[in-house]
Amino acid sequence: MKSNVFIAIEGTDGSGKSTQAKLLAEKMSANGHRVHLTFEPTNRKIGSLLRNILKGTEKADQTTIAGLFLADRLDHLLNEDDGLVKKMADGYTVITDRYYFSSYAYHGVYVDMDWVIACNEMCARILKPDMNIFVDVPTDECMRRIVANRENAELYETNENLKKVRDNYIKAFGKLKDKEQIVTINGNRQIDDVATKIWEKCSELLK
Ligand code: ADP
Ligand code: TYD
Repeated sequence: MKSNVFIAIEGTDGSGKSTQAKLLAEKMSANGHRVHLTFEPTNRKIGSLLRNILKGTEKADQTTIAGLFLADRLDHLLNEDDGLVKKMADGYTVITDRYYFSSYAYHGVYVDMDWVIACNEMCARILKPDMNIFVDVPTDECMRRIVANRENAELYETNENLKKVRDNYIKAFGKLKDKEQIVTINGNRQIDDVATKIWEKCSELLK
């Protein structure tokens, strides 16, 4: 049995993964774990630059964007303030809302996915998730949720693009099925039902 684990929650925009990451963190805490809930892009320097690029207030080409997400991820792992390597060593269970599969899915639309995977190999070597949880929701339902809840759609938020992203997640899971722990959860149902399924999978890790 492991005392602390690293879990990545993945999904297209609007799939409900942030909601689920929070609920999982609450459940873990209630069960006595020290939890560090985090996300990518981060709110540190490189992550903030990325958010401006996503909003359109800064410009960069797609290869550069993929490189910046890698830099943000390495900083997320290795920074001395609250880097995930340190958090894991200190005994925290770390839940991250997005990790490298987001890069494979989103940047794979524009640049060679194998290149993105190769670039991120260092992250996998530094910290590989005990479980990648894919919250799977039809993209038209994701768009419905996004439009219902937000004023502005970000760079990647069109149904056509989200479909490509979803296809890329599935392609990336196929490519890495022998190297990664991947669990797909049907996210197209009530929030609490999704949370229960995710908890079932995660509590198995901690048995
Ligand atoms: P993501 O982080 O994947 O973009 P969020 O967790 O922010 O998604 O959820 C997007 C929106 O959809 C939020 O307003 C949230 O309340 C709503 N939502 C989340 N999960 C569900 C669900 N299972 N059914 C309906 N709406 C949901
Ligand atoms: P996020 O804040 O999780 O948005 P949402 O809550 O809408 O899912 O992520 C912002 C955007 O960043 C999202 O559209 C996906 C994108 N992204 C990448 O393109 N590459 C990456 O490596 C990561 C982590 C995110």
